[in-house]
Amino acid sequence: MHLKQRLDRFCESAPKRLVQAVEYSLLSPGKRLRPVLCLMACETAQGDFQQAMGNACALEMIHCYSLIHDDLPAMDDDDLRRGRPTCHRQFDEATAILAGDALQPMAFESILEGALSPSAMVESCKTLAWAAGIQGMVGGQMDDLLEENRAQMHPSGLSGSQVDQESPENRLGSIHRRKTGAMIEASVLLGAIAAGATTECRSALGRYGRGIGIAFQIVDDLLDVESTCEKTGKATGKDAARGKLTFPGVYGIAQSRQMAKHWVAESLAALEPFGKRAEGLGQIAKYILERHS
Ligand code: IPE
Ligand code: IPE
Ligand code: MG
Ligand code: MG
Ligand code: MG
Repeated sequence: MHLKQRLDRFCESAPKRLVQAVEYSLLSPGKRLRPVLCLMACETAQGDFQQAMGNACALEMIHCYSLIHDDLPAMDDDDLRRGRPTCHRQFDEATAILAGDALQPMAFESILEGALSPSAMVESCKTLAWAAGIQGMVGGQMDDLLEENRAQMHPSGLSGSQVDQESPENRLGSIHRRKTGAMIEASVLLGAIAAGATTECRSALGRYGRGIGIAFQIVDDLLDVESTCEKTGKATGKDAARGKLTFPGVYGIAQSRQMAKHWVAESLAALEPFGKRAEGLGQIAKYILERHS
C-alpha cells in the first residue's frame, strides 16, 4: 500500500509503459525483507515505525531495481522472478533497463519526502547510496559476473578485478558481503537512523545486519542447489552452470549450512543488549535459516 501510494505520486505523467513495468516489478509478491528489517530496526531502537516508512520503501525500490537488472540477459539471464516472467520478458529489455533506472532516483525521493529530520534524511541517503553503489551492491555484482567463466575470458586467470589476488574463499565472502550483505545491513541502519538511535545502538544493529546479510546469500546459494523453481519462484540449479562463485560450490552443502548458522548466531548475539525489544529481529534471523523461498 505504501509502495503503491508512492508510485502513484512519483509516476504521475510518466510514460505509461514505463510505469507499468515499474509497477509490475515493484508490486510483485516478494518477501519484502529489507523494508521489514528497516521498520523492525526502527522499533527496536525505540522509534515509531511510521517514521521509517519512506526509508523502508526506498530500500525495496533499490532492491527491486537490482533484481530487474540482475535478471537481464547481460547479467544472469533469467526468465522467472517472484513466480512471474522477469521484467524484460514481460516487457522488453530497454523497458526493463529503464524501469530499473527509474527506481533508483525514486528511492532517494522516497527518503527525501519522508517524515525525517533533514540530518536523518542526509544520513539515510548517504548510507543507502554507499550500500547500493560501487563499493557495495553494484561492485559486488561486477565481481560476481567476473567470476563467471573466469578461465575462458582470461586464460591467464587474471580478470582485471581488484580481488583477483585473493583466495576463492576471500573473494566469495567479499562478493556476498557487497552484492547482498551491504543492502541488508543498510536496511537495518536506515531503521536505526529513522529512530534517531545512539551510535552504540546503531553499531549493534549494524553487526546484526552484517551477520544476517551474509547468511541470507549463503541460503540463497543453497536454495539454488537444493530447492525448486515452484518453491522459490525463480529458476534454480543455474549458479554452478554459469560458473558462479557460491558457498556450496566452495565449501559444500553441509559446511555452507553450518556457516549460515554461525552468522545467524552472531546476529542473535548482537541483539542481546536489546532484550525483548529485539524479538522480531531475532525471529527474522531464524527465518533466514529456515526459509524455502
Ligand atoms: C533475491 O532477494 C536476491 C538476493 C539478494 C539473493 P530476495 O530473496 O529478498 O528476493 P524477493 O524480494 O523476496 O523477491
Ligand atoms: C543477486 O544475487 C543479488 C542482487 C540482485 C544484488 P543472485 O543473482 O544470486 O540473486 P537471485 O538468485 O537471482 O535472486
Ligand atoms: Mg546475480
Ligand atoms: Mg540472479
Ligand atoms: Mg541466487
